[in-house]
Amino acid sequence: MKSMFRCPVCGGPLDKQEARYLCPAGHSFDRAAAGYVHLLPANKMHSKDPGDDKGMATARNRFLSGDYYAPLRDALAALALKYCPEHPAILDAGCGEGYYSAALFQALEAQGRTPVMAGVDLSKHALRRAAKRENSIEFAVASVYDLPVADQSADLLVNCFSPLALEEFLRVLRPGGLYFYVVPGQRHLWELKEILYDEPYLNTEKLTPYEGLSYLEVVPVDGTIQLPDPQTISDLFQMTPYFWKTPKSGKDRLDALTTLTTTISFRIHVFRKDTL
Ligand SMILES: C[S@@+](CC[C@H](N)C(=O)[O-])C[C@H]1O[C@@H](n2cnc3c(N)ncnc32)[C@H](O)[C@@H]1O
Ligand SMILES: [Zn+2]
Repeated sequence: MKSMFRCPVCGGPLDKQEARYLCPAGHSFDRAAAGYVHLLPANKMHSKDPGDDKGMATARNRFLSGDYYAPLRDALAALALKYCPEHPAILDAGCGEGYYSAALFQALEAQGRTPVMAGVDLSKHALRRAAKRENSIEFAVASVYDLPVADQSADLLVNCFSPLALEEFLRVLRPGGLYFYVVPGQRHLWELKEILYDEPYLNTEKLTPYEGLSYLEVVPVDGTIQLPDPQTISDLFQMTPYFWKTPKSGKDRLDALTTLTTTISFRIHVFRKDTL
């Protein structure tokens, strides 16, 4: 079966088979039992277990499965329906456990469209879950800075809270292709930050014009979520960058909470790649 992925050794097209991916030059990549494929060359692996580790992937999975971020999921799906052609090729760059990838894919299919979709992430722990969530999407361990995807092959590229690799994104997007870039809004998780820090700061919200891309719109997604127990609070905390930079006093205050009500706020920046 044709794949959206390209051979990470020679760049040739990959044929997706039952247990492996194979390029015409004979480079072969086994599919893990869980369904994803490892396409990150050994010399580009900077650690034995890159990306989100098992604990982080488990926390994110518990949290996202509670649908606290469903408003963002639904807004992304609505945008895919609004902008995608009938047979879109979609890439989720830094897809994590495929929560948003699966929603986009399923929303398009439910409308009778026929998307082909792939997701890449450095974390095999996240991809194991992604492949289980939606087995019609291809998932690969790979870096967003070196995507195993052909030039100008994607109609839509999605980047949700993952590293921004603009040059690569522009390479794989076809002219006229779409780019959805999800970033936190000004007051995202404000009440959580008030617990963690003596002087919390607001996120800066700004337009970020990139050469080669034109803005179509910025879609706000705002709401309030109620975290019902310490486990869910801790799961959310582990998903945030604050997990790495919170003083002990803040962490102690967080540990003492039994419930938390907090603002969620996202901005989906929607771009189209220029046609020259
Ligand atoms: C904050 S998570 C977002 C995951 C997913 N988009 C979501 O919102 O649920 C960031 C993800 O980026 C992945 N990641 C970090 N650096 C990466 C890289 N260079 N290439 C691909 N994925 C990367 C991590 O493993 C993690 O799954
Ligand atoms: Zn090859």
